[in-house]
Amino acid sequence: MSKTFELKNNQDDKAVELPVIEGSRGTPAVDVRGLAGKQGVFTYDPAFTATCSCDSDITFIDGEQGQLLYRGYSVQDLAEHSSYLEVCYLLLNGELPDKDQMETFRDAITHHTMLNQSLVKFFDGFHYDAHPMAILTGITGSLSAFYHDATDIRNPEHREIFTHRMIAKMPTIAAAAFKHSVGQPKIGPKNDLDYTSNLLRMMFAVPAEDYEVDPVAAKALDVLFILHADHEQNASTSTVRMAGSTGTNPYAAISTGIAALWGPAHGGANEAVLNMLAEIGDASQVPKYVEKAKDKEDGFRLMGFGHRVYKNFDPRATVIRGYCHQVLEHYGMQNNKLFELAMELERVALEDDYFVERKLYPNVDFYSGIIYQALGIPINMFTPMFAIARTVGWAAHWSEMMADPGMRIARPRQIYTGYDLRGYVDIDKR
Ligand code: ACO
Repeated sequence: MSKTFELKNNQDDKAVELPVIEGSRGTPAVDVRGLAGKQGVFTYDPAFTATCSCDSDITFIDGEQGQLLYRGYSVQDLAEHSSYLEVCYLLLNGELPDKDQMETFRDAITHHTMLNQSLVKFFDGFHYDAHPMAILTGITGSLSAFYHDATDIRNPEHREIFTHRMIAKMPTIAAAAFKHSVGQPKIGPKNDLDYTSNLLRMMFAVPAEDYEVDPVAAKALDVLFILHADHEQNASTSTVRMAGSTGTNPYAAISTGIAALWGPAHGGANEAVLNMLAEIGDASQVPKYVEKAKDKEDGFRLMGFGHRVYKNFDPRATVIRGYCHQVLEHYGMQNNKLFELAMELERVALEDDYFVERKLYPNVDFYSGIIYQALGIPINMFTPMFAIARTVGWAAHWSEMMADPGMRIARPRQIYTGYDLRGYVDIDKR
């Protein structure tokens, strides 16, 4: 028998039965769609803390257990055995590819990495000190001008080409944004390199010298990209879905996701963590900053700590912390001051009742910056790295939504708290 949920109106003592929707895993949800029409009330949930906005087959998070699954595979399993491009295929298509499927997919991504020369000229319009996330938002939005007529969002083949183009071009755009900021010539993609090696070369090669990609750096980036590839209905993905639900151009929808990711409460936290560690400076200052984070008057938060869904360790943070040891050892940076400081901060915070009671643990962004920095990636490129990795998640969710015949424009309601109707007052009478 299907479950229902009874909601009682204490004004007239009448109850209404609402259907309960259960997925394959996770918390069930009360279907409130009929409520407004039948009962004349809306539901109120400003930051969507208790609202499911869609059904999705792609990613599952168990926040209590600290579990993250992509299409049923644990993120730890994928980080250990898979590659970022294989994970992209999995997220987009639902299954791991066989050898032929993987080869065809790799080929499709490799052959979409170049940018239209007219688009390349856009970079010159940005000031040299523009934040790379600003450039990324602008250039990705501009892709819509290049592929508008060629993209029929109702056509599954067109949707697939869009996903390939986005995944392929994002590293080229991010690397070009970096080159612009340091005043160096842009380096184009090279088809015989794998995804992350190609990105490293586009970022760090210069025409005057040969550049050899460090396989350890490429592998470390690949693992980080797997861990960041998708995270169900997070703020940036929900933004992409919301923009996409209007039927807008999908490249424009992706640029809204990049804008949402940039904020320090979301993907911008990786940059904020490094700035915070630099500000703390020394292990002796840790207790002072933990006290500041607990002080509601202060406004300071421990960046890279806490999560809307995880009320236990973020499984991605655990993998990254382990990986930090390997990467730092490879580069002879075992005694890295920032890593030691981060671990001390984690230790002190996790022994503190404030963080224990609120179930605040390190999230994916707490340790990722330590690895990025060891690879020579500048701090303002940390969030662009996240954006490259998350592009597949945005594209997969957009595609899933577009393939749903029941898709409707996302349009929330509000509790109005302003004036009731009033008459216009002439300016000399105010
Ligand atoms: N430092 C200090 N206190 C915190 C922190 C923190 N990092 N995070 C949450 N809290 C406290 C809040 O003050 C609140 O306390 P209260 O109950 O006494 O009022 C309680 O914990 C719950 O926090 P909310 O802000 O209500 O939680 P919410 O789910 O809205 O926010 C968020 C989650 C944005 C991640 C928050 O924990 C935060 O700001 N963290 C720092 C930024 C960060 O690391 N963001 C990256 C998130 S992961 C990602 O997007 C990739």
